[in-house]
Amino acid sequence: MDSQMDWHAARAALEWQVEMGVTEAISETPINRFEQVAPPPKAGVAPGVQAPAVPVLPVAEFDPVAEAESVARSAQDLTGLQAAMADYPHCELRKGARNLVFCDGVAGARVMIIGEAPGRDEDRIGKPFVGRAGQLLDRMLSAIDLGRDREAAQSVYITNVLPWRPPQNRDPKPDEMAMMLPFLKRHIALAKPEVLVVMGNISCQALLGKRGITRLRGHWAEAEGLPVIPMFHPAYLLRNPAAKREAWADLLDLHARLTKKV
Ligand code: URA
Repeated sequence: MDSQMDWHAARAALEWQVEMGVTEAISETPINRFEQVAPPPKAGVAPGVQAPAVPVLPVAEFDPVAEAESVARSAQDLTGLQAAMADYPHCELRKGARNLVFCDGVAGARVMIIGEAPGRDEDRIGKPFVGRAGQLLDRMLSAIDLGRDREAAQSVYITNVLPWRPPQNRDPKPDEMAMMLPFLKRHIALAKPEVLVVMGNISCQALLGKRGITRLRGHWAEAEGLPVIPMFHPAYLLRNPAAKREAWADLLDLHARLTKKV
């Protein structure tokens, strides 16, 4: 090809060739294959005799989700699960995070709250929901007589879909969520709550397989064999205070279920 040919002309020429049915790139100068010297036969195979076909074995692809499922399954308690997550090397988010944010509150509480991912404050301190959204969450819980520092029936247990802060608080990617989901499921199984509260779209996506918190909120669903109530995320409520009315209705609904009024 003329080296002076500009980009547009080169592209037009290429498109023309593709249109004409060209499927293979060949070199600029012709090659006379009759003059080419045949390569020496391979060792052990007589000339003219076809070499036996070498079976092509499928290369087993590494599956980080299967690996997560396996290590999560083998965790026997919450301490073991936290250690397994700390050792799990395949989620890129861990590289940019300062801390693994595992949980707060009381393990074994009736209510398990599932947020999305740590933010800056949570990453710094190593606990979920300690920033402004977390303070609002504490006020919301206290309004129905619950709290992460309360005892027995009034306590809650808190975790997130992702234990590491995504850079710039971006939404987690589907592969990151898929890798960490087996750990979340095992977390729920080991914490043994009666009820799950999933806060925000990411948590709904992880546990209910769908987004659309405005439609989902306030309707009891089921995940991991447990009743689930989707709620607005407290960070959303900070940006949209008018939505606190619906959040209050959902809290009352949760309270009613816990006190067997529904
Ligand atoms: N938002 C979350 O979803 N989780 C946290 O831990 C903090 C903010």
